[in-house]
Amino acid sequence: MATSANAEALNESPIPEAIAPKQNKQTIDPYNVTGEIGADGIAKAIDYSKLVEEFGTKKIDQALLERFERVTGKKPHRFLRRGIVFSHRDFELILDRYERGEPFFLYTGRGPSSDSVHIGHTIPFEFTKWLQETFSCPLVIMMTDDEKYLFSEKRTIEEVQGYCRSNAMDIVAVGFDPEKTFIFSDFEFVGGAFYRNIVRMSKMITLNQARNIFGFNESTNIGRIHFGAIQGATSFASSFPHIFGTDEDKTNLIPALIPCAIDQDPYFRMTRDVASRMYTSKGQHVAKPSLIHSRFLDALQGPGTKMSASVDESAIFMMDTPNQIKNKINKYAFSGGKVSQEEHRALGGDTSVDVSFQYLRFFLEDDVELEKIRVSYEAGELLTGELKAICIRELQTYVAGFQERRAKVDEETVSLFMSTRPLKWTGNPRAPIVVPQIEGAADGAGGEAKQGDGKLTKNQLKKLEKLKQIEAKKAQKAKEKEAQAPPTVA
Ligand code: TRP
Repeated sequence: MATSANAEALNESPIPEAIAPKQNKQTIDPYNVTGEIGADGIAKAIDYSKLVEEFGTKKIDQALLERFERVTGKKPHRFLRRGIVFSHRDFELILDRYERGEPFFLYTGRGPSSDSVHIGHTIPFEFTKWLQETFSCPLVIMMTDDEKYLFSEKRTIEEVQGYCRSNAMDIVAVGFDPEKTFIFSDFEFVGGAFYRNIVRMSKMITLNQARNIFGFNESTNIGRIHFGAIQGATSFASSFPHIFGTDEDKTNLIPALIPCAIDQDPYFRMTRDVASRMYTSKGQHVAKPSLIHSRFLDALQGPGTKMSASVDESAIFMMDTPNQIKNKINKYAFSGGKVSQEEHRALGGDTSVDVSFQYLRFFLEDDVELEKIRVSYEAGELLTGELKAICIRELQTYVAGFQERRAKVDEETVSLFMSTRPLKWTGNPRAPIVVPQIEGAADGAGGEAKQGDGKLTKNQLKKLEKLKQIEAKKAQKAKEKEAQAPPTVA
């Protein structure tokens, strides 16, 4: 195991010198996530405001949330209300486009490094799913099997490809709309228009720039150095002719909105820089991706740590049984309560470090109930055991719901999501202009047969019909629910 708390990001491979975390300071990049190391040698909680400053992103503030609600007619997701999705780059430009009925798409991804998906992994996907429902827009999900091979000393290609397939099944189980979602593996999809964008991007990044952004050195393998061009090129709609059509002068004007954890920002800072130097054949700027960043879910051990798939006691896994969840929370969840009941009753608990309370902030939907729990715990009325019981109940419900959906995801369903085919979306129902007519999309991959002919088999069509019906039922239910809870801003 490497020394970094986030060895997971490198799949336990030794961290090359230059990208090992600088001691003491907090380090957040695609390969390291650690809080500042205190004098006692223990990592402190990550200071997210400081990251906003250092990275030069913008904080998501109340005004932006109010505008979001006005434009979409939807109450912001609890992650937005509670500062879990806390930072952005040009998110307001996406709202402008939504308002005008102009197209954009969502892009997110996962590095398939193991089969052990935990509740921290599903957070960006839960949020992305909600964004897709909110904006009714296409979504591409990149599975970076190549990245997980390049950044690990021991994993084989066969191994990461196996994880890719099973992780894709987990992602499908989050509940994405099959008509609007394309999931792809780098090993399978690189080629054609996508590869042209990768090469365009790689030509515009010097070794010096890559070193400065990622901290690579002379011993870094060149695959790692090049990989940023691959993750970046997915931000361009022109990489997906089967979805957006083959006219690059048009598709290059369609931006991505990228929901991701804040550690991925360096990739997209670089992509935005490259995009600002790219033009269409008509001399227009290629659209820069917008970003919306989430914070991490603390490990059970408390602030300053991040759940790790390779440390069983640090995480609640999506395949944990109700009993395992209960035992882990009771045994490991760091408590902000006082040592004795007497003292707790007198002084109250500290919700800012209490892991069970932090998990409730992520998973408990009801703001009023959450506030009641906070007040009561801080006043010493609610005891640690009682708080843990509420957290256990919420996590058991969340994980059970996932497992139920996951059990229904079969090979055929993943193949459907991963097939190169046109998508269907409606955009903003209230906007004057709706989705543009896109040439070339319907005949699949813009005639690039290598990437699939865009036609679905009979079985896939049947499957799609079935999934559509399930989606329609879900949408109806959600509508009924929403009708009961009116938006908070007019
Ligand atoms: N590099 C990411 C990981 O290791 C995977 C990824 C690729 C990604 N593209 C993305 C994550 C876009 C968020 C958004 O998990």
